[in-house]
Amino acid sequence: MKPDALKAVDPEVFEVVRKETNRQHNNLELIASENFCSEAVLAALGSVLTNKYAEGYPKRRYYGGCRFVDISENLAIERTKKLFGCDHANVQPHAGTQANIAAYLILANPGDTIMGLSLSHGGHLSHGHPMNFSGRYFKVIQYTVNKETEMFDYAAIRKLALEHKPRVIVTGASAYARTVHFDKFQEICDEVGASQLADIAHIAGPIAAGLHPSPIPYADIVTTTTHKTLRGPRGAIIMSKQKLAEQMDKLVFPGTQGGPLEHCIAAKAVALKEALTDEFKEYQRQTLANAKALAQALAGYGFRIVSGGTDNHLVLVDLRSKNITGRDAERALGKVRITANRNTIPFDPQKPFIASGLRLGTPALTTRGMKEPEMKKIAEFIDRAIGAVGDDDAIAGIKADVKEMVSAFPLYAERRAEYARLKDDEPPRGENHKDPKSTKGNAE
Ligand SMILES: Cc1ncc(COP(=O)(O)O)c(C=O)c1O
Repeated sequence: MKPDALKAVDPEVFEVVRKETNRQHNNLELIASENFCSEAVLAALGSVLTNKYAEGYPKRRYYGGCRFVDISENLAIERTKKLFGCDHANVQPHAGTQANIAAYLILANPGDTIMGLSLSHGGHLSHGHPMNFSGRYFKVIQYTVNKETEMFDYAAIRKLALEHKPRVIVTGASAYARTVHFDKFQEICDEVGASQLADIAHIAGPIAAGLHPSPIPYADIVTTTTHKTLRGPRGAIIMSKQKLAEQMDKLVFPGTQGGPLEHCIAAKAVALKEALTDEFKEYQRQTLANAKALAQALAGYGFRIVSGGTDNHLVLVDLRSKNITGRDAERALGKVRITANRNTIPFDPQKPFIASGLRLGTPALTTRGMKEPEMKKIAEFIDRAIGAVGDDDAIAGIKADVKEMVSAFPLYAERRAEYARLKDDEPPRGENHKDPKSTKGNAE
């Protein structure tokens, strides 16, 4: 649908889409779990495939008329196998949490013991948090990082596993900036008779590009989201060894889901095709180089980097030396159009809602083409913004610098130009889409 048609049918939703498109362009996006997918991915997502019911799997559907969506689903499956080198892939999970639910139910029964990284040490809600399905239906033992190194202590994790004999050990994290040694986790699993469930939601991109060790040779099941470093649509994929293939497919459908989202699955296929290119490998290399540059530059401004650095796309910052909480820093950055999220740091004295840290990630800005020089400038903006709380002139100055930077790396330029053309109640404030250096732009 052309944007003018959306505007005619529903001007309110049109406005939301227009403003959000401009917001994504006008802000420096440092949320580690976000990215900007391609126009090709968006085209598949916004297609008529959303209309199709296709319960079941290619060639084994419970509905007629599935011959075309069978093709896109098979493409997504084959490309996943090629990209990650797995035996079997299921591309139907609606989201990362849904993928993990199915994975647990393959490997354990409700009431069994599972072991995952504590949320406050970088784990995910679906790794055993009491409020989540995983914490409500399983007995959960949580491991943590080491207090001194702020990294995994495999000897301590082994000791905990020997003591509690979990059925499943969940590996992977949401806020852990160092390499995950899936081989060491597997040794522990073998010793205690546990299965390894590797959740690579955050590091799927570096793994696909060969820049982080892969869990595929070790873990029984590997889950990933498709919208983070993988730069696809929102959704998830489950991979497994051949011996679990049939069981896995049954637990996704009909076990834990109904009809698959075939428009999302087609968009996953597109993103996976993009991920198989050399450009994608280079993009991942730059994402990691950018994270290192950002961490180094922030350390130069006196910020303490949790664990002393980063091996992946994210940087966890301890703000205590700057005398500001994560919540207040997140707000201060928001005022100058830098988007990030507060995050607990290991052994955080603050409650999660306040938190002592910030989690920063480089996948989205690297997609825009930013490199090390921009990361150094962004570290400077962050330092200035955190020191400028309550100083309106200083905030305006940083905001102007942010505006100049984002203008040099236009995002979704054609869409924004089209929306600007349609915004008849308020003429575009002179943003020149042909001139990426222009510092004038729409609000949001
Ligand atoms: C490690 C990890 N697993 C799973 C998820 C859940 O993904 P979703 O939000 O798609 O349910 C996340 C999301 O941030 C994550 O970081």
